[in-house]
Amino acid sequence: MAVNSVLFCLALFIVKVNSDILCENGFCGRHIRQNPCADPAPDCDLNNGTHSGVWLPSPTICNCCKFCLPMYNKGAPCSIGGPGTGITVGRCGEGLTCDSTTRVCVRMKTKCHDAQDDYDARQARSQTGYMEVRPECDAKGNFLSNVCVPSQTCFCQSEDGERIFGEVANTGSVSMPCTCSRLFHKIRKTISTSVPFPVVSYRCTSDGNFNPVQCFDRKCHCVDKITGIKTGTDVVDLDEQGITDLPCYEADLDLFRPRNISQRPFQYTTPCYDSVEERRQLIGQSKKDGYNVDYFSTFTSINCLPDGTFGRTLINANGTKVCINERSVRIGNYEAKINTPQYDEMDCKCAISSSLLSSSERPHCCSNGNFRPIQCRRGSCYCVDSDGRQEGMQTADINSLPCYTDNWRNC
Ligand SMILES: *[C@@H]1O[C@H](CO)[C@@H](O)[C@H](O)[C@H]1NC(C)=O
Ligand SMILES: *[C@@H]1O[C@H](CO)[C@@H](O)[C@H](O)[C@H]1NC(C)=O
Ligand SMILES: *[C@@H]1O[C@H](CO)[C@@H](O)[C@H](O)[C@H]1NC(C)=O
Repeated sequence: MAVNSVLFCLALFIVKVNSDILCENGFCGRHIRQNPCADPAPDCDLNNGTHSGVWLPSPTICNCCKFCLPMYNKGAPCSIGGPGTGITVGRCGEGLTCDSTTRVCVRMKTKCHDAQDDYDARQARSQTGYMEVRPECDAKGNFLSNVCVPSQTCFCQSEDGERIFGEVANTGSVSMPCTCSRLFHKIRKTISTSVPFPVVSYRCTSDGNFNPVQCFDRKCHCVDKITGIKTGTDVVDLDEQGITDLPCYEADLDLFRPRNISQRPFQYTTPCYDSVEERRQLIGQSKKDGYNVDYFSTFTSINCLPDGTFGRTLINANGTKVCINERSVRIGNYEAKINTPQYDEMDCKCAISSSLLSSSERPHCCSNGNFRPIQCRRGSCYCVDSDGRQEGMQTADINSLPCYTDNWRNC
């Protein structure tokens, strides 16, 4: 910690020195007059339709000149660096990498690119469904932060294309950076399962963004909803102040706002965080008393979602599972009785998607709130995965669908 802050200060200091001493105002004007800049590569020209590049600080004194780093197209020669390999100025463009044997820019081999290739191949044979969308990849060839199901919802996904927390109605122009839920997912995957207590990390909102209030132990501060970067200097210590004193506090995002929120002892918590804390204390006490507690059987049953809730299913007093929203309010009449396959498979994904949509064209859900494997729209039907995404072609002949079962209507 201390070392980190020292390094950080050092970095700040260096930057400050650089800009203050070497690059005072007007320096570049004089410098360039005496040492004219080389022309930047034409690749960055706005009107260069065949090539592209990125503007970067130039590797010259005080970055006085303009510098264009060319981004090579697929098939262009490139260098992987190292002695005797020749040099090229630019590098391979988005989604491309320099092949180590042929030394030309080739498409990166990634899961997302494979998914695109698969889509394109089927598209060429006219075998893509009308509700299917081409997978979108980022510059590194990873999946974009979210994926949208036409006229249903958009949800967050990991770099590998795995669905993660965060979902909103698909309004056609959805921006979902999902930075919070992606970070949460990464932390959950990175942390060893032998850590004795579940790590309560960031709090996200239902769209995968950061909750503007983040707490560490009992100290809370404000962050930017998209980036998660701390904003302002306000800190509320819950031992002394109520959370409502924090300027970024939004009652709407406080899913379990207690009626006595402005009374001591101040809290900013959820039932799930509370039960984690309760068990943590229990384990701590048991260890103190000399018992060897088995963490794994103790904790696997509580993993709070990134929004601090237990999940989207709830087991009633009579053992029936139902679908709930983030405020623990029941959604629809979806339910499943214990000791049935419907109970074990219940994920409520369709129930939740439906509840986010106001349109009349809602997906068809099973009685347990899962997506019905066969969805129909405007006279044709198709199979969907557990997230409601079309798989394969649509048809008017339901019997021919690979996911068809006699009882398809009643699931
Ligand atoms: C675009 O960039 C390439 C590569 O540097 C260059 O050869 C070409 O002349 C440029 N085209 C235009 C229209 O500037
Ligand atoms: C606030 O209400 C909760 C639930 O009703 C109760 O457990 C808690 O003790 C109350 N706190 C104060 C300070 O009254
Ligand atoms: C269990 O409770 C749910 C609602 O809470 C109800 O719909 C259902 O009929 C009950 N099941 C049984 C077997 O009593």
